[in-house]
Amino acid sequence: MRQPYIAGNWKMYKTVPEAVSLAGALASALASERGTKVMIAPPFTALHAVRDALKGSRILLGAQNACAELEGAHTGEISLRMLRDAGVTVVILGHSERRHVYGESDTLVNRKVRCAVAEKFEVILCVGETLEERQSGVTEKVVETQMRAGLAAITEPELAQVTIAYEPVWAIGTGKNATPQDANAVHAFIRGLAGSMYNAAAARALTILYGGSVKPENIRDLMAMENVDGALVGGASLKAETFLPVVKYDR
Ligand code: 13P
Repeated sequence: MRQPYIAGNWKMYKTVPEAVSLAGALASALASERGTKVMIAPPFTALHAVRDALKGSRILLGAQNACAELEGAHTGEISLRMLRDAGVTVVILGHSERRHVYGESDTLVNRKVRCAVAEKFEVILCVGETLEERQSGVTEKVVETQMRAGLAAITEPELAQVTIAYEPVWAIGTGKNATPQDANAVHAFIRGLAGSMYNAAAARALTILYGGSVKPENIRDLMAMENVDGALVGGASLKAETFLPVVKYDR
């Protein structure tokens, strides 16, 4: 059915030599990895070098963001064409740090999703509530708004290019992960919502990752949940010693 998927978001960490060293270590350690799909998203400056370090490996190269335009007067932005040129095939969009620290709206996230899907990238669309939203009982409402807005104009065949990452903002980088049951409940809600936005088959096929303080100690219990198909890993993806056990959670 759905293939397990473990993705590493390196955020704003690692110089080029550091990135190449980690990517090389992962590529050799995962040379025989078949069951789990693996992606790493280094910072933009390291993409070309990491692509070379991953040559011959099955690890996918991801970007952490992209501009909603393909070219033009957009100082400081990086376009999907530039990312393709660097060997990127997967793009993370709508990460909570983009939404909450850099003010990206649902409308902007949707423009990026549409552009990336049209350009044939795989998209990881991030959704998730803040602590305040969870405490006021509006988690599902927030996630539904982000899903409907983020996927506006995305057709059912195009949905096959999209993975959802549920990342509760209060669990990111805090050491407080959602319990496997909490994560599963929101994932089930997301899958149900995809069923009503598209259809049952599309919902069943949708890969839904959990993100927020995922580490070797909690990945197994998360992956045991019916609706948790994988993880988007921040801090623990920065070292081979912690990322590899997450990828090999089943061994
Ligand atoms: P942490 O794993 O460091 O909590 O980060 C999660 C995340 O934001 C991945 O995109």
